[in-house]
Amino acid sequence: MVSKLITFHFTEYKRSKVTIVGVGQVGMACAISILQSNIADDVTLIDVMEEKVKGEVMDLQHGSLFLKTSKITAAKDYSDTANSRLCIITAGVRQKEGESRLNLVQRNVEVFKNIIPNLTKYSPNSILLVVSNPVDILTYVAWKLSGFPSHRVLGSGTNLDSARFRFLMGEKLKINSTSVHGYIIGEHGDSSVPVWSGANVAGVNLQSINPEMEQQDPDGWKEIHKKVVDSAYEVIKLKGYTSWAIGLSVSSLTQSILKNLRTVNPVSTLVKDMHGITENVFLSLPCILGSPGVCGVLRQPLQQRESEQLRKSAATLWSIQKDLKL
Ligand code: NAD
Ligand code: LAC
Repeated sequence: MVSKLITFHFTEYKRSKVTIVGVGQVGMACAISILQSNIADDVTLIDVMEEKVKGEVMDLQHGSLFLKTSKITAAKDYSDTANSRLCIITAGVRQKEGESRLNLVQRNVEVFKNIIPNLTKYSPNSILLVVSNPVDILTYVAWKLSGFPSHRVLGSGTNLDSARFRFLMGEKLKINSTSVHGYIIGEHGDSSVPVWSGANVAGVNLQSINPEMEQQDPDGWKEIHKKVVDSAYEVIKLKGYTSWAIGLSVSSLTQSILKNLRTVNPVSTLVKDMHGITENVFLSLPCILGSPGVCGVLRQPLQQRESEQLRKSAATLWSIQKDLKL
């Protein structure tokens, strides 16, 4: 019947296949955000829960009329993920109420031992974008298990923390967060570092207006960073997990990579030999993102206190990483 209707001439050539591993709350939020951004021509989902993958993919496919992604696939096994440009890993356990991200490490390392070799076998030239927590340590684990060059392994890192930071600063100033600039760097989560020395609106540096903003803090700016750190704990307490903001954040990173946009985003990258860090740890610094993955890392001038905080995060992560059995 099909051949009576159509004469086919070409085989498919895929430029932008994205695989998402894990179809839980985060994986599906990433999937819908990527699909609605029209940035991939194939989105493939995979999970150990085969029925769930099938169901999620059928549900998405039924929305194809309203999307512009020609192929949405439920992978039966990793061979269906072959030739991905980008593999996004969201699989694994998440925090329970009050639990820290670092507490998840050993359980999710075991999950990664199953996932990473399968991804790299079928997509040896792909970029790995790690989202599962603790994201910085698991990005290191993905780098080690894949054998990929470090520019092709990154973690979603503090791109989300920075979005929360800009949203909260924007609320305080009554300015849209896209016009409020500032970076949170370091560990995604508890020991993240707000770079107050660079926070600005239209190039007007907030710290230069109020040099005491961190010490005396009459306007409650410090409270904003505390709120950023508490954000996930609060959302998890209220709804059980976080999903929408990380999905949107990952979709934006995906767009930068697939479209070679060379945007600057704070993502988790190998930071050895930067800011006095001597170990192989992954932490977020402002990175240029494009089709090779991490194309470069900005040499951000930091105040002494900021770089000390960064080194402290690195030491905390290394103390956990060095004992991991990979
Ligand atoms: P979830 O429980 O809803 O989903 C996890 C999924 O992983 C499940 O569908 C499960 O079947 C799947 N899975 C487990 N082992 C697997 C394996 N070996 N192969 C394939 N799939 C496997 O959890 P969630 O809320 O989606 O969170 C997922 C992860 O993302 C957690 O580690 C969470 O802490 C993390 N997270 C990170 C950020 C961030 O900013 N980096 C934000 C939110 C959540
Ligand atoms: C976040 C997750 C839990 O939303 O890491 O920050």
